[in-house]
Amino acid sequence: MAAAPLITARGLVKRFGDFAAVAGIDVEVESGESFGFLGPNGAGKSSTMRMIGCVSPPTSGELRIFGLDPVTDGREIRARLGVVPQQDQLDAELTVEENLVVYGRYFDIPRAECRRRAAELLDFVQLTDRAGSKVDPLSGGMKRRVTIARSLINEPSLLLLDEPTTGLDPQARHVLWDRLYRLKQRGVTLVLTTHYMDEAEQLCDRLVVMDGGRIVAEGSPRSLIQQHSTREVLELRYAPGTNEERAHAIADIGDRQEVLPDRVLVYTHDGEAALHEVHERDAAPISSLVRRSSLEDVFLRLTGRTLVD
Ligand SMILES: Nc1ncnc2c1ncn2[C@@H]1O[C@H](COP(=O)(O)OP(=O)(O)OP(=O)(O)O)[C@@H](O)[C@H]1O
Ligand SMILES: [Mg+2]
Repeated sequence: MAAAPLITARGLVKRFGDFAAVAGIDVEVESGESFGFLGPNGAGKSSTMRMIGCVSPPTSGELRIFGLDPVTDGREIRARLGVVPQQDQLDAELTVEENLVVYGRYFDIPRAECRRRAAELLDFVQLTDRAGSKVDPLSGGMKRRVTIARSLINEPSLLLLDEPTTGLDPQARHVLWDRLYRLKQRGVTLVLTTHYMDEAEQLCDRLVVMDGGRIVAEGSPRSLIQQHSTREVLELRYAPGTNEERAHAIADIGDRQEVLPDRVLVYTHDGEAALHEVHERDAAPISSLVRRSSLEDVFLRLTGRTLVD
């Protein structure tokens, strides 16, 4: 028999007054999986994460974590959870190490054991040399790594990460991705939100695409792309203000088009062949690019909008 899912949500709703931030979602996350919520600002990602993290009670619907009910078993669930909130909530008065130790004390972990784990975790996030520094002067990427180290102090089997890398430079993001990948290899289940499609593609075995409080698609990154997009995309740039007209002239090339303010996208199995046809029509662009379809294309297809604008 398959193990019970770690997280089950059915018809899960979160309302603020009349407004449904989460408008009835169904989700199952299996143990050992890396699961993502991908969506633009306001999609309801954090509201969902806060319900899973037992800090915000569901308005209606069913939610089970480790088979337990967050409303009545919050404490027991939280003891087995690691939480990385969207905004770092580190104590600026304390050193990096003290932040971890104090957090560990909330879980009644003995102080000596907290210190031992803190040292190990700071090594894991490559911040051993900053253990004694105050938090404030650290860079954004370092603070994020401290928060991740702190979230691991109770040795959680499920780690919730709300936009772990938003605002970080590419190098800092890659360091974090590597650490998260190692955690996954150790068997930690990861649930993360992001509005970066490349992050979702890198980190998630499976994901849901959220928009306006609802799930609009679900699957592995690869299956979502296969289902909702073509193999390749030809991106064409024309002189400002001429995209509509140009797109019209090449409308029958490829399977489908999207006309964005700055580009025309031609969805096709073979981008180079499509580009050749475009040139034959005397519709040569200022510049062009052939690339593989991505989750961004899936989102655009499903919602008519781009993920990050
Ligand atoms: N405490 C609250 N009171 C009222 N409205 C809220 C509250 N928290 C969230 N909302 C609203 O619910 C919607 C979803 O917010 P949420 O923070 O879940 O989105 P998100 O997907 O995490 O967005 P982002 O990518 O910007 O973090 C938004 O319209 C937001 O304004
Ligand atoms: Mg959010």
